[in-house]
Amino acid sequence: MKGIILAGGKGTRLYPLTKITNKHILPVGKEPMIFNPIKQLISVGIKDILIVTSREHMGALVNLLGSGREFGCSFTFKVQDEPKGIADALLLGENFAGGDSIVVILGDNIASHSIKPYVEKFENQDIGAKVLLKEVNEPHLFGIAALDETKIVKIQEKPDKPESNYAVIGIYMYDNNVFDIIRKIDYSLRGELEITSVNNEYIKRNQLTYDILRGYWTDAGTFETYKLANEILFNIDNKIISGDE
Ligand code: DAU
Repeated sequence: MKGIILAGGKGTRLYPLTKITNKHILPVGKEPMIFNPIKQLISVGIKDILIVTSREHMGALVNLLGSGREFGCSFTFKVQDEPKGIADALLLGENFAGGDSIVVILGDNIASHSIKPYVEKFENQDIGAKVLLKEVNEPHLFGIAALDETKIVKIQEKPDKPESNYAVIGIYMYDNNVFDIIRKIDYSLRGELEITSVNNEYIKRNQLTYDILRGYWTDAGTFETYKLANEILFNIDNKIISGDE
């Protein structure tokens, strides 16, 4: 199992903080934002991690992270030339994945508790993908899951009329078919290859499972959520909580 952290995009909702600085380098608690997803992958036992970011921010991220030695892992870096969407960024990881399954984390997703239990369940799943859900107050800002008794029946990206309050958060587990699926999906109206289209294809194939994430979670892409991310990580001293604490 390998890890991929997506840290491209423009971060426009945090302007002017992100005019020069990559969003994922901004401080959250006592550390740069991207340290949380890195520590999350390490908490699962993943030591091979690909970081995808934009051309203009690659230098800063390499300077910050180096080889991975300080984290006890190994980093690979790939440039996304244009911010054409989360699935577009993920496609750059195909050679890196090399046939393995992957855990993908959006670089602005902050979580307090280790995802190890969910990854272990995913490893027992022969094929397909697993997503994690969390109840949110503003469902129109996220990918939202419509559920029946046992499964996700549909995911809608930032819906006007959300069918639930369960957001599909930015931590995804995929088998190696994900890359073929990305090649088949179309660009959305906002001109991006959407991760929601990828997850909907897994639903069509009846191969998408889910769990509800424990602990605290937020993305950190707006001023409001950036503030919340800081509160969460200051409270736990930027650690990842493992076990049932
Ligand atoms: O945070 C969870 C949400 O993230 C999900 O509920 C949504 O389904 C998903 O689409 C995504 O929504 P956002 O609108 O918050 O995504 P955003 O464009 O802010 O991108 C999130 C991260 O993905 C960003 O921190 C960096 C990475 N990214 C994004 C784009 C568009 C890339 O690496 N390259 C890109 O081209």
